[in-house]
Amino acid sequence: MKFSVSYCKTILSICALLSFINSWGWGQKGHDVTCAIAEHHLTEKTRAAVLDLLEGKSLVYWSNWLDNASHTPEYGYSRTWHYKNIDDGQEYEEAPINPSGDVVVAIRDQVKTLGKSYKKKNDKQILALKMLIHLVGDLHQPMHLGRLSDKGGNYHKITFFTTETNLHSLWDSYLPESAHKWSYTEWRNEIDRLSDTEIAAICQGTVDDWAKETFLITREVYNSSPREGKVSYDYIYKWTPVIEKQLAKGGIRLAFLLNTIFDPH
Ligand code: ADE
Ligand code: ZN
Ligand code: ZN
Repeated sequence: MKFSVSYCKTILSICALLSFINSWGWGQKGHDVTCAIAEHHLTEKTRAAVLDLLEGKSLVYWSNWLDNASHTPEYGYSRTWHYKNIDDGQEYEEAPINPSGDVVVAIRDQVKTLGKSYKKKNDKQILALKMLIHLVGDLHQPMHLGRLSDKGGNYHKITFFTTETNLHSLWDSYLPESAHKWSYTEWRNEIDRLSDTEIAAICQGTVDDWAKETFLITREVYNSSPREGKVSYDYIYKWTPVIEKQLAKGGIRLAFLLNTIFDPH
């Protein structure tokens, strides 16, 4: 009996520790919004190809599939694919490459896999698509380009109003959910209003350029977020437009990648 109680306590402590660092993307809302925006920018041909691969379900349906899959033994190899760490004092280019993979490499690889064989539907391609639609969202969450020293903000304690949390979770969920109390369709409706010129500019560059752009925001977030301090209304006020822009960029770039693969002409 004694053994089983202490055994349970150990298991519970491990679970608590794991749940502390398991923030692996925008929360569900951020990924849903990214995919809802992307769906709106697909060409007819791309839409048909994607629908065929995703068992007739939408991008939104699969948007967060990878966050759960990466926690399973089958897809555990993709655990590090949700982020890239650039430590304090490092430039983007100076950050060492994680041999287990990172979000930039993973996106490039999924694009390659999809591009190679898009005429023949196969399991590899279906998996690559489910991964890609999630990872492009993650690429636009500033704390997914966070420091290694604090595990992308997971160890950076911060209080949001009265809730004790960390910088990573603040950006994954608390902040987007506080910015607007909208459904993902309302988010899409409100922020997916960019001009053709703005859209063309957003689609310029490489995946590395997009990551670097997010990283410039990450730096500013670190510089303006207190350690063990409290943030509230002024923080939401400052960062809401940035979150809106990041979600819009993620959706538009995801559509751009998919259109390039499935409807290159
Ligand atoms: N999630 C878990 N570990 C992380 C890290 N090192 N950087 C960003 N997000 C993470
Ligand atoms: Zn993720
Ligand atoms: Zn996260």
